[in-house]
Amino acid sequence: MSETKVLTEFYHLPEYQTLAGYKAKGGYETLPKALKMQPQAIIDEVKASGLRGRGGAGFPTGMKWGFLPKNGEPRYLLCNADEGEPGTFKDRMMMERAPHQLIEGMIISAFAVGSHKGYIYVRGEYVFPIECLNKAIKEAYDAGLLGKNILGSGFDFDLDVYRGAGAYICGEETGMISSLEGLKGQPKLKPPFPAVQGYLRKPTIVNNVETLAAVTYIVKDGAQTYRKHGTEKSAGTKLFSVSGNVAKPGNYEVPLGYPLLDLINKECGGMKPGRKLKAIIPGGSSAPVLTAEECAKANLDYESLAGLGTMLGSGAVIVMDDSQCMVDMLGVLTHFYAHESCGQCTPCREGTGWLNKILHSILEGRGRLQDIDLLVKVADNMKGKTICALSDAAALPVLSFVTKFRDEFEFYVREGRSKVKGTTYAEMHH
Ligand SMILES: Cc1cc2nc3c(=O)[nH]c(=O)nc-3n(C[C@H](O)[C@H](O)[C@H](O)COP(=O)(O)O)c2cc1C
Ligand code: SF4
Repeated sequence: MSETKVLTEFYHLPEYQTLAGYKAKGGYETLPKALKMQPQAIIDEVKASGLRGRGGAGFPTGMKWGFLPKNGEPRYLLCNADEGEPGTFKDRMMMERAPHQLIEGMIISAFAVGSHKGYIYVRGEYVFPIECLNKAIKEAYDAGLLGKNILGSGFDFDLDVYRGAGAYICGEETGMISSLEGLKGQPKLKPPFPAVQGYLRKPTIVNNVETLAAVTYIVKDGAQTYRKHGTEKSAGTKLFSVSGNVAKPGNYEVPLGYPLLDLINKECGGMKPGRKLKAIIPGGSSAPVLTAEECAKANLDYESLAGLGTMLGSGAVIVMDDSQCMVDMLGVLTHFYAHESCGQCTPCREGTGWLNKILHSILEGRGRLQDIDLLVKVADNMKGKTICALSDAAALPVLSFVTKFRDEFEFYVREGRSKVKGTTYAEMHH
């Protein structure tokens, strides 16, 4: 097996960024076909395709669209391009290389769900992707592909880019909606889910960049063709952002169900010379870590990874070799979550801060053996008790790192330095 380029087939062509270049490769040929279909028929096709949301949770897209109330209220389509998960950088490439692919996917999706207004919520640091999107949106308006009466179909759809300030929590869908409304980007309790009550309290569909881009291909070739890729329960292809100690880090599109080690060894050119695989976080920093032995059994689909106690998440594969100190790595992660907690829920606000402090006291040589169990206890108390999943996302890496690499934590406490690197935290970072 090797890369299967469904979405990324033409990403190597610089002209694919432009309307003319996108059209030359069949772009915007699916849109007129879609606009002649019944919206429900598009939703049914997306359901039949088995497409699951590519933003992290893997929720079936067609089913989410089916939750919209049928009451004729205005509804919104939001594209989640916040891309806050550490290790994930696929949406950025999609917006830079193929902005029209996302726009076509959004127009078709908006027509299917009956929305006349959409936003692409992009993290503020993504200056170049925002430029690419704005240029493409202007081209699409000028060509009658956006705005009133698109291609003479009678369907109207307006699309804007909204620039967030770059907080991880604004990637959570209800946090994103609050931010878009001009409020603090703080998540809200669900239900009501956004599909019922979202932006401006109206029904709202939030989907990831990759999810919306895939819709065009499902309508173009049909659900069954899309299903040729992937597994029964995890259909289609998926982009994986591979970072860390591999020879060729980058984004790779492979069918779901692809063996994890094939991604590392075939696509990414294996580990760096002379180095051995130690561990992989398969689905963004919130996913529990896998040991090298576990990696050998892992396939990149929702079921296989869940079976190993971890998750596919956003598809960020973070690879660590035998030179990586796991205590140091966990220190980086806990610092991130403590910084990004929005502070609404006590277990998350206090828990993330506490985890970070305990870990850094170990790293700075002030740790006690009982602190290792304390890390586990605090993390255990943070799971499933909060408004959003950030608290779980902070707890799960701690539990998996401490359980699977306990000897490194104990060594650090006893010796005040890393078992792997032999140096102290201060020496490692200065
Ligand atoms: C803390 C947190 C951060 C998130 N960040 C993102 C993000 O950056 N991009 C994204 O698409 N989804 C993110 N999500 C998931 C969204 O809440 C939502 O499930 C997703 O955008 C739905 O789109 P999908 O169905 O296409 O996956 C995040 C969730 C949480 C709890
Ligand atoms: S879990 Fe954390 S980030 Fe999520 S709402 Fe609660 S405090 Fe905010």
